[in-house]
Amino acid sequence: MDSVPIIVLDFGSQYTQLIARKLRESGVYCEIVPYNEKIEDIKARSPQGIILSGGPASVYAKDAYHPDSEIYELGLPMLGICYGMQLLTQHFGGVVVPSDHHEYGKAELEFGDECACQIFNDTPSGQIVWMSHGDRVDMLPDGFEKIARSENSPYAAIAHIEKNIYAFQFHPEVYHTQEGARLLKNFAKYICNVENTWNMGSFAKEQIEKIKEQVGDKKVLCGVSGGVDSSVVATLLHEAIGQEQLVAIFVDQGLLRANEREQVEAMFKRLEIDLITVDATEEFLTKLEGITDPEQKRKIIGETFITVFDREAKKHDGIEFLAQGTLYTDVIESVSVKGPSKTIKSHHNVGGLPDWMTFELIEPLREIFKDEVRKLGRELGLPKDMLGRHPFPGPGLAIRIMGEVTTNELRLLRESDTIMQEELKASGYYDKVWQAFAVVLNVKSVGVMGDNRTYDNTVCVRMVESVDGMTATFAHIPHDLLERMSTRIINEVDGINRVVYDITSKPPGTIEWE
Ligand code: XMP
Repeated sequence: MDSVPIIVLDFGSQYTQLIARKLRESGVYCEIVPYNEKIEDIKARSPQGIILSGGPASVYAKDAYHPDSEIYELGLPMLGICYGMQLLTQHFGGVVVPSDHHEYGKAELEFGDECACQIFNDTPSGQIVWMSHGDRVDMLPDGFEKIARSENSPYAAIAHIEKNIYAFQFHPEVYHTQEGARLLKNFAKYICNVENTWNMGSFAKEQIEKIKEQVGDKKVLCGVSGGVDSSVVATLLHEAIGQEQLVAIFVDQGLLRANEREQVEAMFKRLEIDLITVDATEEFLTKLEGITDPEQKRKIIGETFITVFDREAKKHDGIEFLAQGTLYTDVIESVSVKGPSKTIKSHHNVGGLPDWMTFELIEPLREIFKDEVRKLGRELGLPKDMLGRHPFPGPGLAIRIMGEVTTNELRLLRESDTIMQEELKASGYYDKVWQAFAVVLNVKSVGVMGDNRTYDNTVCVRMVESVDGMTATFAHIPHDLLERMSTRIINEVDGINRVVYDITSKPPGTIEWE
């Protein structure tokens, strides 16, 4: 087994992957493993440090997650975050109690000269950190000392300096913790003595090697959507196994944006990767007839995708693998990555294949985020305009039509969306927002056009800013740009007489409407 400098044990926090991401940004390679990973498998990776993640449980709960207790005896540097801190406290003989009130949100982290440790190197006292916890440490174990406090948490950070064990009550991995990346880097660099040698180039090489090893001389079926993710996956595969072993399939499910099919085909021609387009429009639209429930739509589309792939695969000999551009964001909101995180929303094709399918999955992007995929794409030499493309969901326009998906609603959506994209690109805003799209609502309203009363459909325009799709804010778009979009959509799209702008952030909303 390859050596891994830092191992993160996942106790189910939604933020666990962000720990890995922050470390990667600092050039430190790490791997996330489930909290109950076998101790032999951990030792086999020769780690230089262990991080215990946060988690939703209480250490006192009957079904609380505990790692193999030998982990504490390895003599390795450790960092416990939130739940991880409580585990360390409990294990070494301290006391954890439920807080009088849950503490969520910002806090100021104060430390003076009391800490001679290096974990806070190059970061100021008074820095903002993000708290999210129910339980708290009430009494320190022997040998531990307080190294930082906040107004509500006297033990905001503690350490056993000699043993190189550190613990934070706050989450260094989340965006709102100002110096979080630096704190994690300090742990890796000064406490674990890990060199920062990791970068996207090495990630690309690693993935290519992994694919070669996994696939051998078999063939891989790769679902291509034209988006950044699946194009990066196809390119990685192409580099790893070449055209002979690669069957790249683009399914036109009838839920694409205007001209998208032609654009995707042209792009793959440029990449010199052979692409097989399957027109399954009728199959998808027939199955979606009469369906209005969002989860049902997603399920039907996911299942139909698989059916189409399976049918296509049978036309080629020797296919044993299915490659997908699944990202961490898709995974975390569907099933747990490696540990026990909670389910939020079901995304298609994520969470494994049905039993009757014999393919093994290849998902090289499963643990990284969109902006990291773009960096990877740059590393692989993909064209710039393609890397800048906004994300487009697998279920396509179906989840941007509220209610039943009909050919008329699809027309309304495509025409409105095209106008939006044109205006965005003309104004230079396309590259400034994370994602922008139209949604057709099942809401009719009265209007007046010329001398006539109208009673027509509503389009919502949605534009968001985000770094990774996990959280997002609605984009603060100039009103004259919104006005141009609205005027053009109402004038040019027959059947739309009202345009609204979505001013919801994520959370509490999601980016897509369904
Ligand atoms: P939500 O709506 O969950 O979206 O806030 C977060 C990001 O994921 C995209 N998305 C999907 N991507 N298959 C995908 O490949 C899906 O089923 C899916 N649903 C949402 C969404 O466009 C946004 O960028």
